[in-house]
This record gives sequence, structure tokens and C-alpha cells, in this order.
Amino acid sequence: MSEKRLTLPQPRIGLGLAALGRPGYINLGHGADMPGERDVDSMRAHCHVMLDAAWQRGLRYVDAARSYGRAEAFLGDWLAARPADRRPTVGSKWGYTYTAGWKVDAEVHEIKSHTLEVLDRQWQETREALGMSPALYQIHSATLDSGVLDNTEVLGRLAQLRDQGVAIGLTTSGPAQARTLERALAVEIDGRPLFDAVQTTCNLLEPSILSMLHVASESGMAVIIKEAVANGRLTARNQRPEDTARLELVDRVAERHGATRDAVAMAALLARPWVDMVLSGAGTVEQLDANCRALDIRLSAAEIEQLDGLAEPSEVYWQTRGNLDWN
Ligand SMILES: NC(=O)c1ccc[n+]([C@@H]2O[C@H](COP(=O)([O-])OP(=O)(O)OC[C@H]3O[C@@H](n4cnc5c(N)ncnc54)[C@H](OP(=O)(O)O)[C@@H]3O)[C@@H](O)[C@H]2O)c1
Repeated sequence: MSEKRLTLPQPRIGLGLAALGRPGYINLGHGADMPGERDVDSMRAHCHVMLDAAWQRGLRYVDAARSYGRAEAFLGDWLAARPADRRPTVGSKWGYTYTAGWKVDAEVHEIKSHTLEVLDRQWQETREALGMSPALYQIHSATLDSGVLDNTEVLGRLAQLRDQGVAIGLTTSGPAQARTLERALAVEIDGRPLFDAVQTTCNLLEPSILSMLHVASESGMAVIIKEAVANGRLTARNQRPEDTARLELVDRVAERHGATRDAVAMAALLARPWVDMVLSGAGTVEQLDANCRALDIRLSAAEIEQLDGLAEPSEVYWQTRGNLDWN
């Protein structure tokens, strides 16, 4: 096994800002968790409450993106008020542009483009908003179709950032995540692998990328998991009849450990020692506390085997996700 090219902090849970930087998002019941007004000042204050809560619970990694509305700016304000030795490690992303104009019911919330022009523009915007360079900069939702993994200009620019000390990564989405990651593993610039980290969707309903993630880890990539509770489908909030049977098993395991569905779902990922970080998408401090319980849960091999049986066909998972409303 190659040494990891990027060492992420302990513990292996970090705070994701997708639901905290903009008034609208797709997670089940998102609207109900945000502050009443959802104006910029209220959202900034709530985001800072969540960042303080994460720090107080010992979490030392935060995930942002250019397209999460004002997430980077909210994080930048929070970081500016803290001494350097009391700041978490920050990862951010480029490639999507936020277009919702602070509306929840916007026609189009974000537009994806993985061009050199977008990379150069967003790198400047990210550093300005954060007030510093992120430790990790990732292509947002790279796919084989977006062509970014064959765009020599963009890959060359990313290699320049790498040589300036910024870790380079990619995030993947969709049923073809494993093929995208396989392609990314082959990308080398100046004889060195370009990508130090991968962030992928992986959870009890959509675990299809697990074996390719293990290969990536063995090759020295840091492994970051997103959507660990399937945008709320693996939480108490989910009342979808189609999910009842699957959730009954999760509930039995949760009961045995005195925890909640979300904590069991995250613990099943943390049970893989080569997983370096699982992102919490919590919208409230109560949810964050429930998610962090995963750090204390030790699932038995039998429980992991049972939980691994909950997968649904990838195509079905991503179709269901695609139909989740922005709220
Ligand atoms: N393409 C990408 O690169 C990409 C895509 C997606 C996510 N991400 C990253 O991954 C992070 C996490 O992903 P995510 O937020 O999309 O999905 P997620 O973690 O699967 O879902 C989080 C949602 O589940 C609900 N939830 C969590 N814990 C709960 C609890 N204890 N009880 C009830 N509901 C609970 C909350 O919904 P509410 O909304 O109701 O609070 C929360 O927003 C994001 O913040 C982002 O940093 C990256």
C-alpha cells in the first residue's frame, strides 16, 4: 500500500457546508432545519453556530464549494475571527457556479463547467472568500462526460497548484462514479499522480464504489465520503414507504447500539479503516450530535455484512436522488 499523499485530520468526521451556505438544498426537510428567515445574515449566523459546534465536538475538517451559495464567505468570516492554530483543515471545490440568486425556488440552482476559464476564475474567488488557500481543491462532480480528465490545459493548471502546495482532488457523482475514479487514478503529470484525494457518494443504499475506493486508497489517495446518509433517506426523517423494509434492519442495529439510523449508516463507512473522512451534512446541532455518535459505534462483522445487503441498484439510487426537491 502506498503512503497517503494527503493526511487528513482526526477524527474521521468532517462538516460539509452544502446545506448551510444557501437557502435552498435537496436534503429531505432541509427547509425546516434552516433559520426562519433564511436571509444572508441569519444563514451566516447559523453556519457559524454549526462551525463552532463542529469545532467543540473535536471535528477538524470542513468541506465547502464555490457553488454552495455563500458557504466559502461564511467560512472565511469565521476563520478570520480565529487564531491560525484553532482553524480546521479546509477543502473546497470548483466547477459549479451558483445561479440561484439566493432563491429556494430558482429555476436553475447551479451550472457545471470544467473549463480552464472557470478554474482560474473560481480559484481567485475561493481564496478571496476564504481569506486563504484551501488545503485541498477538488474538481466538483467530475464525470467522464464532462471531459475534464482529458483536458490537458486544466490538468496542467491543477499540477501548477499542486506544485504550489495545494492538494488536488476530485469529487464524483452518478452511477458511473467507479469508472470516473478509475480514469482519475491513471492521470499523471510530470511522472506523479495528479490527484491526492477523492470525494465520492457512498452509503448503505449506494455502496457500488467501495471496491474502487479501496484501490484508490491503496494507491495513496485520501478517501472522503459524501452523502453518507443519502440526503436524509438514512435518517429518522425518512418516511418513504419504499424504504421501510431496508430501514427496519438499520433500526434494529441502531437499537442494539443505542444510536440513530444516521449514526449506524456513518459507522458502517468508518468501519473501513482506509476511509479517511466521512462528511456530516447536518443542518442542526442536534443532527451533528447524532451523526458524531458514529465515532463511538463498533459494528460487528455480522452487522456489517447484514448492512452491506441493503444496497439498491445504482441507477435506482441516482434516479431517486435526482427527484429530490430543492427545499
Ligand atoms: N458533488 C459533491 O461534491 C457533493 C455532493 C453532495 C454533498 N457533498 C458534500 O457532502 C456533505 C454531506 O452531504 P449531503 O448533505 O449532501 O448529504 P447527507 O449527508 O447524506 O445528508 C445530510 C442531510 O440528512 C439530514 N440529516 C442528517 N442527520 C440527521 C439526523 N440525525 N436526523 C435527521 N436528519 C438528518 C439533514 O437533512 P436536512 O437538510 O433536513 O438538515 C442533512 O442535511 C455536503 O455538505 C457537502 O459538503 C459534496
